Amino acid sequence: MTILGIETSCDETSAAVIKAEKDRLILLTQTTATSLSLHAATGGIIPERAAREQLKYSIPVIKNALSEAFPFWKETEAPPIDAIAITYGPGLIGSLLVGVETAKAVSLLWKKPITPVNHLYGHIYANWLDDTVISNEMRDPQRISPHDVRRNDKIDFPALALVVSGGHTDLVLMKNHEDLKVIGGTRDDAAGEAFDKIGRLLGLSYPAGPVISKLAEKGNRSAYALPRPMLGSKDFDFSFSGLKTAVLNLVKTNKQISTVILSDSEGSQKDASTSSQHDKLLADLCASVQQAIVDVLVRKTIAAAKAHNVKSILLGGGVAANDLLREEMKQSAIRHKLLAEIFVPQKSLCTDNGAMIAAAAYFNKKEVPLEKITADPELYY
Ligand code: KG4
Ligand code: ZN
Repeated sequence: MTILGIETSCDETSAAVIKAEKDRLILLTQTTATSLSLHAATGGIIPERAAREQLKYSIPVIKNALSEAFPFWKETEAPPIDAIAITYGPGLIGSLLVGVETAKAVSLLWKKPITPVNHLYGHIYANWLDDTVISNEMRDPQRISPHDVRRNDKIDFPALALVVSGGHTDLVLMKNHEDLKVIGGTRDDAAGEAFDKIGRLLGLSYPAGPVISKLAEKGNRSAYALPRPMLGSKDFDFSFSGLKTAVLNLVKTNKQISTVILSDSEGSQKDASTSSQHDKLLADLCASVQQAIVDVLVRKTIAAAKAHNVKSILLGGGVAANDLLREEMKQSAIRHKLLAEIFVPQKSLCTDNGAMIAAAAYFNKKEVPLEKITADPELYY
């Protein structure tokens, strides 16, 4: 079975073709256009602009993915796919509408069934794509490198998914493909949102998650004592707004930090020693922020995995591309002697992409009549 997956919920326009052989999903091609650089300039996403970019790219991206997957495909004919999968929510209404209406139009034109997909399920199902990295160090710590690639048709249930993106931080218990239950979520900001908002405070470009992670490489993760909100609570909920406030207070009250951050945002000239002082301070701050976020994500996920005795832990969403999170989740599972295997999509499949939408549709096939498919920006699980 071959599925075209289309994702346009926010600032990425992505189309992918996957092939399913039994429950083994192979990614044939993927084309993604992003309007991130536009939003980097404004420090955040302007929904109207994101939607206009979706309009510009949706058809070229779909055509490109199909012609790479099927070099002999003629645009005047229907491509040799069995189904179309489209994200219908959650996300920005304008962006979602572009994808949903485009998918409906091509479905009508090519006479192919269409499956609407929840974007959050997509992040979870990125784990079923074949080139997903599996960390299985518990069995043999020496043997498996982080680049090991294995087939992923063996994810065992019950599974626990940590969905960590710009808008969500959810722990989802999956008994099987039909039975998903949210057992924890954020009470305020999502983890990605915390990275982005703190990055903004520090004058970093959007999206700040990867920038903070890069700067943190040279920093001291214990340099600043930042809060780990709800770390000790018995539930599996998260809260990150207190961390953002703590960083804001630090920027306001720590003279050294405020001088450096402020001088940077005013674009003043710096001599060599001020510049190296600035770099060190920023690296330490970023390392401390990243560690605080990762500590909470790891602690809660491992506690939930233990409580529900799961066989697999799945990471998904943009923040799952974070190296520290990937590494510390593995290490913590080893320390706690968890038997669950940890699955992490390759980095390009953590952020928004069409392949994960096609993968989710494969396991949750439902053909929905065109007139019943509508964009739903507030969709939850
Ligand atoms: O899943 P995604 O691409 O879009 C949403 O569905 O929200 O996630 C985007 C989020 C942004 O907040 C971004 O800062 C964060 O993922 N992110 C990261 C990393 N790469 C992306 N956060 C931390 N470390 C990263 N390496
Ligand atoms: Zn996403």
